[in-house]
Amino acid sequence: MCGIVGYVGHRDAQEVIIDGLRRMEYRGYDSAGLALVVDGTIEWRKKAGKLANLEAELVEHPIPASHQGVGHTRWATHGGPTDVNAHPHLSADGRVALVHNGIIENFAAIRAELEAEGITFASETDTETAAQLLGREIARSDDLVAAMRAVVARLEGAFTLVAVDAHTPDLVVAARRNSPLVVGVGEGENFLASDVASFIAHTREAIELGQDQIVAITPTSVTVTNFDGSEAETRPFHIDWDLSAAEKGGYDWFMRKEIFEQPQAVADTLLGRIDDDGQLNLDEMRIDQAELRTIDKIIIVACGTAYYAGMVAKYAIEHWTRVPCEVDLASEFRYRDPIITKSTLVVTISQSGETADTLMAIRHSREQHAKVIAICNTNGATIPRESDAVIYTHAGPEIGVASTKGFTTQLIACYLLGLYLAQVRGTKFGDEIASLVAELEQIPAKMEEVLKRSDSVLELARDLIDEQSILFLGRHVGYPAALEGALKLKEIAYLHAEGFAAGELKHGPIALIDEGLPVFIVVPPQGRDQLHDKVISNIQEVRARGARTIVLAEDGDDEAVPYADTLLSLPVVPTLFQPLLAIIPLQLFACEVATLKGYDVDQPRNLAKSVTVE
Ligand code: M6R
Repeated sequence: MCGIVGYVGHRDAQEVIIDGLRRMEYRGYDSAGLALVVDGTIEWRKKAGKLANLEAELVEHPIPASHQGVGHTRWATHGGPTDVNAHPHLSADGRVALVHNGIIENFAAIRAELEAEGITFASETDTETAAQLLGREIARSDDLVAAMRAVVARLEGAFTLVAVDAHTPDLVVAARRNSPLVVGVGEGENFLASDVASFIAHTREAIELGQDQIVAITPTSVTVTNFDGSEAETRPFHIDWDLSAAEKGGYDWFMRKEIFEQPQAVADTLLGRIDDDGQLNLDEMRIDQAELRTIDKIIIVACGTAYYAGMVAKYAIEHWTRVPCEVDLASEFRYRDPIITKSTLVVTISQSGETADTLMAIRHSREQHAKVIAICNTNGATIPRESDAVIYTHAGPEIGVASTKGFTTQLIACYLLGLYLAQVRGTKFGDEIASLVAELEQIPAKMEEVLKRSDSVLELARDLIDEQSILFLGRHVGYPAALEGALKLKEIAYLHAEGFAAGELKHGPIALIDEGLPVFIVVPPQGRDQLHDKVISNIQEVRARGARTIVLAEDGDDEAVPYADTLLSLPVVPTLFQPLLAIIPLQLFACEVATLKGYDVDQPRNLAKSVTVE
C-alpha cells in the first residue's frame, strides 16, 4: 500500500525517483508525485491516476535538475484519489515536503491543533498533518532529524514518512513504524524505498530497519537512530536477485511471467532443504526440535491467497503430524480471542511479509507466548523479523498484484514444514517422508507439462469472455484451489466468481446453477482418493441442471471425461499436492479473461500488492 522513494546522490534525482516508482507502482496507483530540492526551494509535481500522468506533467512542466528528493505512488485511504490529495504534501511555508505510507490514527486531533494555530490545510489526507507538523517543528529546531523525531513522538498508527527540507542540501530523512522501509546503499548515493525493487537497478546492498527508527541518508552516509535518539541496531543484507527478475522479460504482464516462472520458483523453494536420503533439512528454523515435539496445536494465519495456501496446509499437516491445525483469516484472528498457549505453534504465511493483519496476529500470538514460524517471500520484511523462525519461499519478486508463484511456493513451504514436523515428531517413517519428498521434487517438471497444455485454457477464456458469473467447485484440497481460482477471476477480471466445497452444493449454492453457467470442478485423483466418485456425482448434479462443466482431472481419469464439456487434464500427483497443478490453468484463465477484456492485469482497480493497513 503506497510506494515510497527517497534519493540523495550523484544521479539525476528525478530519473531515479520515477524509475523507482515505476518498479513499485504495484503497491498503489491512485496517484503519483515527487518533490525535489532545487537551489534551496522545493519543486513538486503530483497527479491523480497512474505514474504515466505524473510523467506527462513533468514533460509539460519540467523541474530543473536535482540530486535530492522524495517520491510516492498512492493507494488512497484518507481523501479521494485526486491531485490535491496526492503526495508529497508540503508544509504551509513550502519548506519541507513529505511522503507517507500507512495511517495516522490521531490525525484529526493534530489537524485541529494546527488549524487553531492558523495553519491552513490543502488536502483531506492524514498525511498532510505530518507534513504541517514537520514544518512547525523544523521552524523551531532548523534540524530535519530533530524535527522528524518531534513529529513521530506525536503520531499514533502505522507510518513510514520520508521528507526533504529545502534548506538542508544532501539530506533525506525517514521514520518508520509498522510500515515497510529499506535503505539501499550505493557509492556516493543512498536510497530509501518501501521495496528493494525500487533501487535494484543501482545497488544490491541494503539495510533492513527495525521498528520505531529514524534514518538519515546523505550521499556518503546512512545514520540510523531509535525514536528516542539512542543508537539503533540494523541488519545489512545482500539482495539475491537482479534487475531482470523485476522486469517483464518479453511477457505482456508480470502476472503471466510469474505464472510461467512457477516451475523454477518451486524448485528454488525446495533447493537445499532435502538431504541425499530424502529427509528434510530446515536448519534455518531457529526453533529447537525438542520444542517442536511439545506443540499440541497449530494455527495457520494469513490473508487472501496466502490464507487459501494455509487451508491446503491444514489438510497436509494434520494428515502427516496428527496435530490439530486451525486456519484463521488474520483480520479475524485476534478479535475472536483465540486459545493460544506456549505449546501452540502459529504459522503465518505472507508473500510480502508486510501485511498488517498478519503482523498483528504475530504480535498477539507472541504476547501469549506461542512460537511463530513465518512463511515469507521477502527478505528483510517485518513479518519474518518479528517471528521466531522463518521459511523463505525464494520465489523472487512477485510484482503482479494477483499472487501466483507466491501461492505455489507457499504451498511448497507448507508441505516442507508439515513433513519436517512429521520427521521431528516421528509421525511418519523416514521412507514415507522420502517418497513424498521425491514426489515434490517432480513438481517443477509436472508444472512445465501443465503450462505446455495452456492453449485450451486460452481458448476457453475466449469462449467465456462474456459470462456474468462463474463457479468453482472442489473438495478436500480441491476446495481451497477452487476458492483461489475464483479469487483470481474476481480480482483481475472483475467477474463475479465463487468457490464452493462441492459437498455443500445441495445445501444452497446449487440454486445458482442455470442453463449454461460455467462451473470449474477440481476432481481428486481417480482410484486413490475416496472423494473422486463423490465429486463425479457433484459434476453430474450441476450438469443435470444445465451447467457448462470445465473439469480439471488427472491424466487417464476416464470416469470424468463423459461429464466434462471441457476437460483440462493434469499430470498425476498425490492428492495433497494436486493444488500445485490445478491452480495453474485457473491462474492462466483469469489472466487471459482480464487481458481479453482490456483490463490492466498487473494493477487491478482498487487493489494494492501489499496491504499494510488494517
Ligand atoms: O503479502 P501477503 O501474502 O501477506 O498478502 C496477502 C493477500 O493480500 C494477497 O494474497 C492478496 O489476496 C492477493 N491479491 C491475491 O492475489
